[in-house]
Order: sequence, then C-alpha cells, then structure tokens
Amino acid sequence: MDPLAALEEALASAAGMVAGAGTVDEIERVDAALLGRDSAVGRVRRSMAGLDPEERPRVGARLNEVTNEIRRLIDERRDELQAAEDASRLAEDSFDVTLESVRLPAGSRHLIHQVIDEVVDIFIGLGYRVAEGPEAELAWYNFDALNTPKTHPARLESDTMYLDWGDPDDEVLLRTQTSPVQARYMESHEPPVYIVAPGRTYRTDTVDATHLPVFHQIEGLAVDEGLTLGDLRGTLAHFAREFFGSGTEVRLRPSFFPFTEPSAELDVSCFVCAGSDPACRVCGGGGWLEMLGCGMVDPNVLSAAGYDPETLSGFAFGVGVERLAMVRHGLDSIKNFVDNDVRFLRQFR
Ligand code: DAH
Repeated sequence: MDPLAALEEALASAAGMVAGAGTVDEIERVDAALLGRDSAVGRVRRSMAGLDPEERPRVGARLNEVTNEIRRLIDERRDELQAAEDASRLAEDSFDVTLESVRLPAGSRHLIHQVIDEVVDIFIGLGYRVAEGPEAELAWYNFDALNTPKTHPARLESDTMYLDWGDPDDEVLLRTQTSPVQARYMESHEPPVYIVAPGRTYRTDTVDATHLPVFHQIEGLAVDEGLTLGDLRGTLAHFAREFFGSGTEVRLRPSFFPFTEPSAELDVSCFVCAGSDPACRVCGGGGWLEMLGCGMVDPNVLSAAGYDPETLSGFAFGVGVERLAMVRHGLDSIKNFVDNDVRFLRQFR
C-alpha cells in the first residue's frame, strides 16, 4: 500500500480506537496497535530506507506529523483514564472519619499493684532501692539464712508449698514471705543497704475472708552503722503518715519473728475514728489497726549474709499488700482481689 495512504488511514482510525479505550491497560494496547513495530505506522517507518530518495522527505515529514498526532491523542486519553482510575481508587480507599469507632474499654492497674507502687514510691523518697527475688526459692534463703532452722514450726512441710524441682537437697519451695530477698540482697551487695522488695508469696492457707494461698508482701530492709529501733519507728511512722494520712499515729507491740530481735508488730491509729467510735467499722472501736511485722535484724541473719554484726545493725519489716489495701479501703473480703469482678476493680481506677 502507498505509505502516505497507509498513514492517512492509520490517522483516520486512531481517534476512534483511542476513544474506545476504557482503561489505562487498554490504552497501552491501543498505543502498541497504532504506533508499535507491527502497526501500519511502524511498517511505514521501517520501509523508509527503501523509498525513493525524492519520495522519502515527503513521506518522512508526514510520518512524523501522523506519529505526533496519534501520540498526542493517546497521551491525552491516557492522562484522562489515569486520572479517573486514581480518583476511583481514592474514593474506594477513603473512610468516613466521623463514623463511630469500636471503643476498647481502657484497663487500669489492679489495686494491689497500685498499692505496691505507692508504697515503693514512699520508700524511694527516703532513698531506698527496689530489690527482687525469685518466687521459687531455696529453703536456705526462705528459712535458714533467716535464722529459721529445720526444727522451726514455720518449716513444717504441711505449711509450705514445696516444688518437685532440681536437687532434692536444695528444697525448692514457693516462698512463704518476701524476707528471703533480704538474705539474697545482702549476699550480693556491700552495706549500707536500704531496700524494699515487693512480690508474690505463697502459703497453703485455706481461703477465707482474710487469707489467700497467693498474696503479696513488701519487704523492707535497712542495714547501716548505728541503726536503732528509733530509726525503725521513725521510718515506719513516716510510711504510715504518707499512706494513711498525716494524722496517723503508730505503736509497736512486742512480737516474735525468727529473723529479728527484738521483734514487733506495728499498729497504726485508726484513720477513720482514731479510737473515738466504739462501733467503727474499720477498727471495731479499738482505735488501732495491726499493720505489719518488723524488728531489728537478728545478728545471725547479718552473719549468714557475710556482714559483720559487730559494726552493722539494721531493721526490717514485712507488710501484706492485700492487708494494706483492705484496711485503707474498708474491704471486707480478700477474695475481691482475685474474683476479677470489674465492678469491684473499676472503683480503684
Ligand atoms: N516475713 C514476715 C511474715 O511473712 C513478716 C516480717 C516480719 C518481715 C518481720 C520482716 C520482719 O522483715 O522484720 O510474716
């Protein structure tokens, strides 16, 4: 076919083919069909070398014009189609930001952990550090290192959850108190020592209103030169005022713990009635609330940890976290803490 006629024919059909392309993919196919190597235009381009020299400039000029015109039609259509496709993709991707979302209820820390944080903060304010120990503990740290020999009633197997784990001579048990952290810490740190050690503790107690087999304690230990019972009392009085209120009084009552001598129970004055209400629902009218065990660290405990009891002295205390929370909030059952009733938990956000 005459090359010029072929070009005119291609140009004539181009507009319709371009207009008929409905997607970017289709316009690419039209592009190849109109301008590609095997298109009519492509064949004219390839035949140029064989044309008569007189004919070549005319065909060449028209070839360029036709190519440019078809290219313009294609480019224009491609831009249109691309814009339409972009717009519809955006429309599909968009979402209505005013739509109500699914609200996940925000949780909060459990009251027990709030109390731990609060107590720890009070002691951090006095320069104490936080120490931790394992919940699966060696009998040595839980008892022996704390001046509690094999013959002591607290060691009776029936009172304690032993684990069938490791060397039987190690006697691994779920710790019955956080006190073993005292021994572990002293063993690996030089004096002076000022630590609090919060954590979970275990006993084979039957569940009742004030007992759970799994509960929490915070241990405190101070060892330094010249610490006295006065330091113990002053420290715990400060703690009681911070935790229960500035008017809180404390008293020490003689008691016994294997690892302290002398030992005492610390009572705090009733922060509700201060003893003025015989029917007080918090103290029952006695005016005092039993709060924690404490005492001056027994020299045997210092020695067992490698400390010199001749130059060092210290005091220690252990407080039940559930008890602190129950007293402060007037709770009547320790089971509230483990029932996972959100109506209970929500009150302490
Ligand atoms: N570990 C004791 C208990 O579980 C509490 C305690 C009493 C800890 C006196 C002490 C202490 O550090 O000095 O009953």
